Amino acid sequence: MTALLTPTISPSRPALDDLSLHDLATIARGLAETAHLWPGVTDPRERTWHTIARTDRFEAFVIAWPSGSSIDTHDHGDAAGAIAVASGELIETTVSDVGGTATIQTTKLTAGVQLAFRAGHVHGLTNRGSSPALTVHVYSPVLRTMTFFEEGGDGEHLPVRTEWFDLEDLR
Ligand SMILES: [Fe+2]
Repeated sequence: MTALLTPTISPSRPALDDLSLHDLATIARGLAETAHLWPGVTDPRERTWHTIARTDRFEAFVIAWPSGSSIDTHDHGDAAGAIAVASGELIETTVSDVGGTATIQTTKLTAGVQLAFRAGHVHGLTNRGSSPALTVHVYSPVLRTMTFFEEGGDGEHLPVRTEWFDLEDLR
């Protein structure tokens, strides 16, 4: 059977360093406490994000999600990550390849929830609620690529495009 997911992890950068997934989740949780203070995030007209922290070891974004907004299925290159929900709720749809079988899971992420994931995590996020959602996302190492996937036949998810982030562009 064809692999359901094509890994996009680059061996050219070091792995997680000494930040554990618990560390990433803790950072996300802490930053979520003040996420509502960033401009334009409490009543967004479109999905809006700000870079709110960057170090040699991690970076963090706050993302505001109006009702109905979403991001398509994607990975995070060689970065591990964590998400903390400051307010509202999102539906996370994860795609994984378990023994050659596509496994698609949906999880409701509500205010106060945080999760962390290793590199290779493939997911999409949607705000299906009637209120905006506000989340904090932390990546380690710094996010450099996101590859987006589309479902083909037999549950196969194919990479269709990769977005590269130039650190200069993110300032
Ligand atoms: Fe993501």
